[in-house]
This record gives sequence, C-alpha cells and structure tokens, in this order.
Amino acid sequence: MAMQISTGTSELRDITKMERIGAHSHIRGLGLDDRLEPREISQGLVGQVKARKAAGMILKMVQEGRIAGRAMLFAGPPSTGKTAIALGMAQSLGSDVPFTMIAASEVFSLSMSKTEALTQAFRRSIGVRIKEETELVEGEVVEIQIDRSLTGATKTGKLTIKTTDMETIYDLGTKMIDALTKEKVLAGDVIAIDKTSGKITKLGRSFARSRDYDAMGADTKFVQCPEGEIQKRKEVVHTVSLHEIDVINSRTQGFLALFAGDTGEIKPELRSQINTKVAEWREEGKAEIIPGVLFIDEVHMLDIECFSFLNRALENDLAPLVIMASNRGMARIRGTKFRSPHGLPMDLLDRVLIVSTKPYTESDIREIIQIRCQEEDVQLSPEASTVLTTMALQTTLRYALNLIACAQVVSRKRKSELVDVEDLRRSYTYFMDEKRSVQWLKEQQGSLIFEEIEGTSDDVMDSSS
Ligand SMILES: Nc1ncnc2c1ncn2[C@@H]1O[C@H](COP(=O)(O)OP(=O)(O)OP(=O)(O)O)[C@@H](O)[C@H]1O
Ligand SMILES: [Mg+2]
Repeated sequence: MAMQISTGTSELRDITKMERIGAHSHIRGLGLDDRLEPREISQGLVGQVKARKAAGMILKMVQEGRIAGRAMLFAGPPSTGKTAIALGMAQSLGSDVPFTMIAASEVFSLSMSKTEALTQAFRRSIGVRIKEETELVEGEVVEIQIDRSLTGATKTGKLTIKTTDMETIYDLGTKMIDALTKEKVLAGDVIAIDKTSGKITKLGRSFARSRDYDAMGADTKFVQCPEGEIQKRKEVVHTVSLHEIDVINSRTQGFLALFAGDTGEIKPELRSQINTKVAEWREEGKAEIIPGVLFIDEVHMLDIECFSFLNRALENDLAPLVIMASNRGMARIRGTKFRSPHGLPMDLLDRVLIVSTKPYTESDIREIIQIRCQEEDVQLSPEASTVLTTMALQTTLRYALNLIACAQVVSRKRKSELVDVEDLRRSYTYFMDEKRSVQWLKEQQGSLIFEEIEGTSDDVMDSSS
C-alpha cells in the first residue's frame, strides 16, 4: 500500500497571502491592443495616450530583440504617471526578459563605487538564455517508503517509480525525503526529478489513478504515465542575468551572496572572462543574449560622473534598453555648475528618445481615482468622487490618491462602509497638501529649526556645491 508521507512540515498551513497594496499595485500592463493602440482605460492605466503608445513601440522593439543600448526618457511634471508607465512596461515584458528598477540615489548609498553600482544594474538587465542538457528521472510514483530513526533526526527511504515499460527503486536520503514531502508527492503522482539539482516537479496525477481519489481539488491535472526509460536526458532552457553569473563565479562571493543581496564589488577581470565565455556559448548555440530593461527613476539625481559612465555603457554591445524618468525642467547637473534640461547633460540627452507626460484631464483623474478605490476596496459616494476629483485638480493627483485610504479610516470610525464628502473634508483638514504646508510654514516663520537657508533655488543641493 502506498503511504502518505507526513512530517511536521506538511501540516504547516500555507501562510495566507496578504495582498499588499502599493502606490502602483493597480497597474497590470500598458493597456494596448494588438495594434499597439492604447485603450482609453485598460490594465489599470488611464489616458496619457501618447506616452503609452511610445512605451508600447519601444516594448515591441525590445521583445523583438531589436533595441539594446538605447535610452529613453520620460519627462513630465510630478504624478503624471512616469513611474506608473514604466512599471506597466515591466509587467508586459514577459517573465523571461529582465527588468531592473533603481532610483538614481541608490547609486550613492550602496557600499560600492557609483560606477560599480551602475555596472551591476546594467548587468542585472541582460539576460542569458542558456540551453543545458540535464538528466531527469521521470515517472509515476508507485510507492514511497520512509523509515525514521528513533530520534527522528535522520530519515531513509525508498521511492518506487515506474513508466509504462519499467519500474525502479531508488534509495532516498534526508534531503530528497524533505523535498518530496514539501511537494506533497503521493503514490500515483507523475513527477520529474532533476538529478543534478534534486529539484522535484509534479507533472500531474496519473490517469490510472483518476478514480482512486474522490477528494481531489478541481485543479488536479491528469497526465499519462510516461513511456520508455525512467532516466532521460532532456534539454532545459533557463534564463539568468549576467550579474547572476558574475556573482556565482566570483570566488569571494559564491552564490549565497545573491540571496544576501550584498554582492560587493566584482573584479573587472572576472567580468571580461564571463563576457568571453558567454560569447563562446553564443557561437556554439548554447546561449542567447536577451537584452532587458533598466529603469532609472529620478535620473536627475545622478551626477556628472554617472552620466558619462552611462554614455559609455550604452555603447557597449552588451547593453540593455535604459529607461529614465525625471520631473525636472531646467536643472543643475549634479557635480557641475551647469544647468541643462531635465538635469541631464547635453551629450546624454542627444542619445535619448524623450517622451513627455502631460498633466491629466479631469475625466482621466476621475477614472484613476475610481481604479484606486477598487484597488483599495473603498466605496466612494458619487458626490465624494466629484469632490476628490476637484481636490486632485487643485492639489495633486498623489495627494488625492493618498486621501482615499485616510477617508476610509474616518468613515469606518462612524461605522460606515461608504466614504462620503464629510470624511474627505475631515481627512483634508488632518493632512495638508504641499501648498497648504508651504503656507503654514510661512505663518510659522522662525519657530521651526533650519529655516534660514535663503535663496535656495530649485537646484538640487549637492555635497560638491
Ligand atoms: N495613467 C495612469 N493611470 C492610472 N494610474 C496612474 C496613471 N498615472 C499615474 N497614476 C497613479 O498616480 C500616482 C502618481 O503617478 P506616478 O508615481 O507614476 O507619477 P510620476 O510621474 O512618477 O511622478 P514623480 O515625478 O513625482 O515621480 C501613482 O499612484 C500612479 O500609479
Ligand atoms: Mg516617479
């Protein structure tokens, strides 16, 4: 008789997933149709048609592998959807294409040089699709037997597995037993075990067993018992980024650093060795380069050294598509005395396709608010919705979106599920928007610390100034 494996772990209930709601969690894609025309409202995005269309065209080129080493810049006033559209692009890229997102200021706060941080970001955004042959054990599980030592510390066992043609018994070690338990493998399951990594994949339940169990979930998939040999060689394809290859091969780091996140600096010699190796694989047809996307938000926070690095890096033949976003108009380039559009030096601007985002119309704002309310599970009364739209026009879209959750807390206090104008009004008095805050600061002249700095312009303050 087949027995069900039971160790403590299988009884641990899956922790209920809590859906986190972030500022952009309503965005699921770019909302384009097959002809790349933006639908007015789709996949969480509203309006901003031109920018979305441009983003879609770029995306298409990325997917066809035709664009690498190019750069585009989203430029526009605050809260006009620059970050939102970039995230929409990321969602429609497909799981295989790497997308890296950094905020420009991160470059300065890592424990490595600026250029190293940028290099890592670049290499994170280049995928290498590698074809490898691995040895698989594939078949229907006939029986799993587990013997536990008295203390329970060590386990041994046997796995009987069959195809339509043969049946074999494998000895199991503790690690395999744990893996089988974790995957909840039962007799009658068709599984594949990767012999090198020990990874177990459940392919489905055998048709032969379809009548044995009546307590199966609706999503149980039935498959035929495999034919032929139990051990097979199979070609598997997986995608890793150049950065991952760097880290795994860096002797001082080892792949554990990938999980820890602090990868430190990587030696240039190693990188060039890896580039050569990858080029070799490409020639042999073993690997394929997939240029991905690197998104640098708030790009005006980079300084002149970073910009000149970008210029050079974009010309490398292993460069991703670089998307930047900036809400600055004429601004000082960090690290220099010069002012330039969007805070980017001219020579970089020259290489960049610029897409501008424009302030939203009233009806767009109304729709965005509607979408956010759905996302946050908030019910707005029609009047409240109108009032909030007006608020967004007078203050900013972000402020209005932030008020939604606050107003819900206020309405819950009076035990109502419907958010009304009064709740909005009260949140409006509790939380200031930027204009009122500035006004308030003026009224408080002298009573707050650090106010004296006279003549601060819109320039970015900089240590080198
Ligand atoms: N077209 C849109 N459709 C749906 N939601 C949007 C749209 N544009 C912006 N939003 C939402 O409005 C908020 C502000 O937009 P976002 O953060 O993208 O602005 P931004 O242009 O990046 O501003 P900043 O320059 O300040 O970084 C976000 O919560 C975003 O998800
Ligand atoms: Mg932004």
